[in-house]
Amino acid sequence: MSNPCLTGSPFARRQLLRSAAVAAAAAAASAFPAPAIAQRRAPYALPPLPYSDNALAPVISSTTVGFHYGRHHKFYVDNLNRLVENDALGDLSLDDLIKSVATNPNRAGHFNSAGQIWNHNFYWSCLKPGGGGPPTGALKAKIDEDLGGYEKFKADFAAITNGQFGSGWGWLIAEKGKLALTRTANADTPMVRGASCLLTIDVWEHAYYLDYQNRRADYTAALIDKLINWDFANEQFAKAPKG
Ligand SMILES: [Fe+2]
Repeated sequence: MSNPCLTGSPFARRQLLRSAAVAAAAAAASAFPAPAIAQRRAPYALPPLPYSDNALAPVISSTTVGFHYGRHHKFYVDNLNRLVENDALGDLSLDDLIKSVATNPNRAGHFNSAGQIWNHNFYWSCLKPGGGGPPTGALKAKIDEDLGGYEKFKADFAAITNGQFGSGWGWLIAEKGKLALTRTANADTPMVRGASCLLTIDVWEHAYYLDYQNRRADYTAALIDKLINWDFANEQFAKAPKG
């Protein structure tokens, strides 16, 4: 068979050559992926624990960590990823997603799972083996100034956390340049109202029931005395607005 480019009229040959050039350009372009239009954030990740699952024992056992992190925390991640599978909310960062649905009752499921992911990510970082005791760094002076010193902070942090009716969280926050203690229910989090979170204690029963049964106060006291990660709290404080 003769080559059609070498036969027929000059016009027909030019058309054939142009078509071949277009096809070659299209083939070359298809070798590269199309540019991304938007940064999809989902699926959201379950961050690795910052220590081994037995590192917090005997204050928190590896059994509790296994269920708390491996089942409860993971459930929130899996559930949110299922909820945003075909949803533009999955284009948002976790922080922005929480803020965008916080006051929308039709998105309560999204808020509950996303808030619980954020709170648990934060909680694990607030603990460390060999932690606890009086604050270090800039927070030492700030707790003296705003919260009446370490002994008062310790008693007040435990009281406000233990006083949460039902499931929730106790918090040390910075807001408008001042430290404060507060608590939130269920999946709620102070960050959604613009506060800078510095420390948290999870007082959902799944956080302590295997080790302490109904003795919530023993769990919070042990955390404050033996596990608080003041290095992490100081890092959060350094990022907080000063006024
Ligand atoms: Fe929890």
